[in-house]
Amino acid sequence: MALLEVKNIQKAFGENGVLKGIDLTVEKGDVVSVLGPSGSGKTTLLRCINFLEKADGGSLSFEGKEYDLSRITKAEIADIRKKTGFVFQNYNLFANKTVLGNVTLGLTSARKVAKAEAESKAKEVLAKVGMAEFADYYPSQLSGGQQQRVAIARALATDPSILYFDEPTSALDPQLTAEVLEVMRELAREGMTMIVVTHEISFAKEVSTHVMFMADGNVVEEGTALEFFENPRMDRTREFLRLTSN
Ligand SMILES: Nc1ncnc2c1ncn2[C@@H]1O[C@H](COP(=O)(O)OP(=O)(O)OP(=O)(O)O)[C@@H](O)[C@H]1O
Ligand SMILES: [Mg+2]
Repeated sequence: MALLEVKNIQKAFGENGVLKGIDLTVEKGDVVSVLGPSGSGKTTLLRCINFLEKADGGSLSFEGKEYDLSRITKAEIADIRKKTGFVFQNYNLFANKTVLGNVTLGLTSARKVAKAEAESKAKEVLAKVGMAEFADYYPSQLSGGQQQRVAIARALATDPSILYFDEPTSALDPQLTAEVLEVMRELAREGMTMIVVTHEISFAKEVSTHVMFMADGNVVEEGTALEFFENPRMDRTREFLRLTSN
């Protein structure tokens, strides 16, 4: 049984069809990179899968339960969200909370975990991303790479079954990008299931088990990372790889 299976997901903004019936299957331990040109629908796909945006149609099954995306309830969404984590391009940390406050919030508020227990879990995940010494800092006192590592710790704090990343390094310079990718690489090694929208082709090549290449709201090509990078079948994929690999 797949951890996550999305079938025929559709989304339009007004007349603009952005997801035109996309299928996606993620097994436990998979690292799926989603590639594609700007405007192809990558962010919209992730946002619809995590209900930050409402899909128009399609189905989603998660840990064995199937949902119709056009009529999923708030309670069902809340249940699924308890098992997922989302890492945004621009970190989205609360500026008025410390690092520790940002990481414990999802535990103490939505999950009613006691403060001491939440703080001990937060310290554990902060250590994992190399940010243990920064627990009392505010986001404005951190570099972008450090803020993003805190955002990853925040996502990890609730022990998610899957993590979604939307271009987690695109706001960072190369040095800070490397720090964040190293954390993600380590998560992959530990078997964390992830979907990563990224423009980092070398990272996708090295870390992903599967790749999905989108254009204009459709999947152009997908496959194992090896198949995709070593032997792309579609002209459009070859062209994309040629343009992005230098
Ligand atoms: N909230 C919105 N309202 C209207 N149109 C939107 C909205 N969000 C996205 N779109 C449109 O949907 C299309 C796909 O956008 P999306 O952000 O999913 O692309 P993307 O593949 O993530 O691009 P990028 O690589 O630039 O991040 C674009 O045409 C965009 O203008
Ligand atoms: Mg995007």
